[in-house]
Amino acid sequence: MKMYLGVDYYPEHWDKDMIDEDLDRIKEMGSNIIRIGEFAWHMMEIREGEFDFSFFDMVIEKAKSKNIKVMFGTPTATFPAWLAKKEPSILSEDELGNKRVFGGRRQYCFNSEVYKDYAKKIVEKLINHYKEEEQIISWQIDNEFGHEGSDMCYCNQCHKEFQKFLKNKYEEIENLNKTYGTIFWGQTYNHFDEIPIPKPTITVHNPSFKLDWARFRSHSINSFAKLQINIVNELKGKNQTVTHNLPGGFFDKAYDQNVLAEKLDFISYDNYPVWGGLKEPIEAAEIALNHDYVRGLKNKNYWIVEELMGAQGHDVIGYLPRPNQAKMWAYQAIAHGCENMLFFRWRGMTRGAEQFCYGIIDSDNKEKRKYEEVKEFMKDIKNHEKIINSKIESDIGVLYDFDNTWSWKGQNQSIKFNFTNEILRLYRPFYNLNTNIDVIDIKNDFEKYKVLALPVMQIIDENLQKRLEEFADNGGTIIFSFRAGIKDKNNNLYFGLENPGLISELAGIRIDESESLVEDIEIVAKDNKEKYKANVWRDIISPNTAEVLYKYNDKFYDDKAAITRNKYGKGQVYYIGTGVSEDVLDELYRDIIKDQAIEYIDSPKGLELYMRKYKNKKYLFINNHTDKEIEFENDMIKAYESKIKSI
Ligand code: GAL
Repeated sequence: MKMYLGVDYYPEHWDKDMIDEDLDRIKEMGSNIIRIGEFAWHMMEIREGEFDFSFFDMVIEKAKSKNIKVMFGTPTATFPAWLAKKEPSILSEDELGNKRVFGGRRQYCFNSEVYKDYAKKIVEKLINHYKEEEQIISWQIDNEFGHEGSDMCYCNQCHKEFQKFLKNKYEEIENLNKTYGTIFWGQTYNHFDEIPIPKPTITVHNPSFKLDWARFRSHSINSFAKLQINIVNELKGKNQTVTHNLPGGFFDKAYDQNVLAEKLDFISYDNYPVWGGLKEPIEAAEIALNHDYVRGLKNKNYWIVEELMGAQGHDVIGYLPRPNQAKMWAYQAIAHGCENMLFFRWRGMTRGAEQFCYGIIDSDNKEKRKYEEVKEFMKDIKNHEKIINSKIESDIGVLYDFDNTWSWKGQNQSIKFNFTNEILRLYRPFYNLNTNIDVIDIKNDFEKYKVLALPVMQIIDENLQKRLEEFADNGGTIIFSFRAGIKDKNNNLYFGLENPGLISELAGIRIDESESLVEDIEIVAKDNKEKYKANVWRDIISPNTAEVLYKYNDKFYDDKAAITRNKYGKGQVYYIGTGVSEDVLDELYRDIIKDQAIEYIDSPKGLELYMRKYKNKKYLFINNHTDKEIEFENDMIKAYESKIKSI
């Protein structure tokens, strides 16, 4: 397959007589694809039932004449104003019951039957119109489901659907009452239609109820997506594929993207390492974690359909990517499994909400630094296509489970808690050693890995317990962090079990007491007195069969463990009972990696090395994430420089 490189182009934003020249310039830069259409519903249906695709016919004809392929977006992320006026029930509501008004985007309710009908119609018309069009190689459905708070809606339609969803799940109201423990605070329901929607109330809602609400939101989004995907699949031409572009912030949304992934030909991702008013980009390890998560959704290489080039933000903008820095992020993405890439966007728009979302070209319409960087990148990256298309294999799995993430979201337990920080805490030390890491849903098979990390996995049921025991028994290493195993699938605590619940034997420990931390505390290694910092949480661990690695430096609990290691079968199980600093974990992980004979490379801080293999040869993708020159194996890597080397 030929590699696709291109730009997000919004031809409807510009005078028609600029399109030819734009496409020539886009092509001249090295592109062979443009992505269009995803916000242009009004242009395609100016008034209800008046469908007109002539503008895009013209754009596609021009693209064809220049041999540029097209990814076309279904336009359901932005419906026309006439529809909002005619059918206000399509508008979603915030948690205070305020209807979101027309303006902005993504303000539709995923459970609105009226909206689904209109969406169905426009999608059918669009795909039917272009199904024979060979220039269109892929359909992107909608745009960034669940982004910008659009995963939540508290309207009556959602309320009714939620009650149905619960009835479907529990069948009898007694089952729900029992599961939720509604006997508490006298919340027992007689009928499903008494169940509220979790708008704000005095104090808090029931935890099991909150978890079901998150599951319901995810179900609502995925059902809406499925509706569109089915239409596209039914009607599309045989060489056309279907995808959807995911925004970042995966774990902050009530939306399990693994369900969506099953239905897509490939996953697309929008990579913005810095956005809005951020003082600086997110750390390199987090950018990497995002890529590994996206690749993990289908266990397959993926596309990026929006790769940041300029500074971004709606009303507020922050950090400006330094010369070569955004280009380096593009190389980093490719290293982690991105096979085809489109940059956001060809040219920044002078009017509208994204005046400050800068593109490759700015409003002066001149080819400058950013243009030259993209051009250089496109020219170079094509030479590595075979390596880029190779499958990435890793020995390390970082596991997450959306039920668990949502459980934490509903009850933070510590004011310092943030799920992304905790997954990063257990991911980062692997990243620092330049190993290949898969970030995957816990439902995936994990026997093939040598090491598993389960960050703050507080929901662990018997099935998972057995799978983990088998894994360790067979020689695998497992790393747990605090609060592991305290809850069941209904988001309730286990009765009659000591913490950490079903994994107590696996970890060889008992936890009698725990504390949420607001400030740093100190821990010390068992056999040296050096002090290290910890925060967020601490489980006060009593070892049973486990060995103590670190203890608390504390008047009352200095005989208790902070970090332990247990032998289980042929394997080892680590329990990290507190939010420890990176230096402690870096040490531990080095031992784990060596012990399991996993390939790793030491590198100076900020220099990312990613190993790819193709036909028994090894290649290193080298990316300097710092603003300083770094020496690596007699080679000088300049600030924000990227290199691909065979080794
Ligand atoms: C993305 C979105 C684009 C554009 C971009 C601006 O999240 O998909 O449509 O808004 O952000 O940075």
